[in-house]
Amino acid sequence: MLASRYLARRIVSHHRTSFQRSLATHSFTPSTLNSVNADDIAHFSKILSPSSILSTLPPVSLPPSDIAGFNNDWMNKYHGKSTTVLRPRTTQEVSDIVKWCSERRIGIVPQGGNTGLVGGGVPVQDELILSLGNMNKVRSFDPVSGILVADAGCILESLSEYLAPHSHIVPLDLGAKGSCQIGGNVSTNAGGLRLLRYGSLHGSVLGLEVVLPDGTIMNQLSSPRKDNTGYDLKQLFIGAEGTLGIVTGVSILAAPAPQATNNVVLALPRFENVLPLFVEVKKQLSEILSAFEFFDRRSYELSVRHGQGRALSGEEIEGAECFVLVETSGGKREHDEEKLNTLLESLLEADQPLINTGVVAQSPAQFASIWAIREGITESISKEGKAYKYDISIPLAKFKEVVDMTRDHLQSKGLLRDDAVRHVVGYGHVGDGNLHLNVVAADYTPEIQAALEPFVYELVASHKGSVSAEHGIGLMKTHALHYSKDSVNIEWMRKIKQLFDPRGIMNPGKVLE
Ligand code: FAD
Ligand code: MLT
Ligand code: ZN
Repeated sequence: MLASRYLARRIVSHHRTSFQRSLATHSFTPSTLNSVNADDIAHFSKILSPSSILSTLPPVSLPPSDIAGFNNDWMNKYHGKSTTVLRPRTTQEVSDIVKWCSERRIGIVPQGGNTGLVGGGVPVQDELILSLGNMNKVRSFDPVSGILVADAGCILESLSEYLAPHSHIVPLDLGAKGSCQIGGNVSTNAGGLRLLRYGSLHGSVLGLEVVLPDGTIMNQLSSPRKDNTGYDLKQLFIGAEGTLGIVTGVSILAAPAPQATNNVVLALPRFENVLPLFVEVKKQLSEILSAFEFFDRRSYELSVRHGQGRALSGEEIEGAECFVLVETSGGKREHDEEKLNTLLESLLEADQPLINTGVVAQSPAQFASIWAIREGITESISKEGKAYKYDISIPLAKFKEVVDMTRDHLQSKGLLRDDAVRHVVGYGHVGDGNLHLNVVAADYTPEIQAALEPFVYELVASHKGSVSAEHGIGLMKTHALHYSKDSVNIEWMRKIKQLFDPRGIMNPGKVLE
């Protein structure tokens, strides 16, 4: 039963990601590229201040451990062996670096917060890492239009904090908000927890400043909200994963901050109830619905086991096969509360209820705790073991079937055991048709890899889905691109890559093989 009618205001989560690092290498070799050498370091010293150059090469000569954090990804799955990380402070510095690398044919990996989940932000070999973290200033904010212009290296959560006193929010929210950068978000076309409400970055990004692979600065930051003057080039860089250029500035349409936010976690007896529930929730909450997030029972258990949010009581989760987190964001507290309460009453009092229980946040702390359970799944999985992560688009009705089929498949291969695959879980953004299928293993092994691929991708293709709903292709899925893009599309992607980056220096080995 509902414990209370009091609904809490959302507070910004300070959930931060933790980083595990270790060194190893990948087999791909970008054969036509040159390594950074001591002469290059001497040249970079003319462009950048000493503190912006981290290198194991002379004369800087740092120990490799000092740059290990840049060479290894968040999951500790992908490992580069770059010798040099540059941390420019201005767009001009980025341009000067890129010009030099283009002439010398040195591969460049743009890196934001390094929270990417497909190996796109770390080198394949010893490419130079260009880290945007020192470019972290808000350039302007216009409270009338809501247009925010910021350096690419601004951390997403910092932008939220900047906008809060202006009663605006970034139209994007994800569990990595404490580390990921707006330039990384744009470059991955990150989806996240608010897409249902605010749409994709292809709509809310109004302009970009990009350093092209020859060092030219392409500035479209002054774009007004409506601009139909020919080809919309910025769209090419949204989701390009650093393969076409380096995003140095972002103009984005911030949304007015909601005056009232509420959340509730609903426990469902069967997965089959998720879809009718979504239809009912949309119908009743309409304009105030801001999130509809799904997680199965095992995801919930992992999250609370690893301290992400306060566990629900035994009574609240009894008989639950899965959970849905519903958030509302609206303009008037009483109005929104009334709508949410009416919804919950109708759900609980129905002849055949779709839910067992609904736990409404009664305080800001409880509001944050409910979100932490959902947002914390990623981190809890990485504490539990090594994650094989598939962020797929498939019809909503197939979410459970795909998770179950994957588990059965691993079982049939004898891999479902504690020293191999420990869990197969599903969670995700129901409102966007995006399932996160995660296989949690004791280690990354060729045997598990071979059991999962192409099995998962063929399953996705059989449902006419996408092999990447939001995390991108990176290094992980270059070989799987063809499951979601036909040869004509891939050919035109190659032509675009060739046009922008004929010397092949920009994030080599990513997106396209
Ligand atoms: P990085 O990881 O540094 O880089 C990602 C890619 O973008 C790389 O290919 C890199 O080369 C490129 N890149 C980075 N910055 C630039 C730049 N300035 N110019 C050009 N290219 C650049 N993703 C979602 O979509 N939705 C989620 O809900 C979500 N939740 C997450 C939760 C957790 C706990 C974690 C760890 C990750 C999550 N992610 C999610 C994945 C990741 O956070 C996003 O992809 C994010 O947008 C990456 O930003 P970043 O700054 O960390 O980029
Ligand atoms: C999420 O929705 O939690 C993120 O995309 C990260 C993940 O898939 O684990
Ligand atoms: Zn996601």
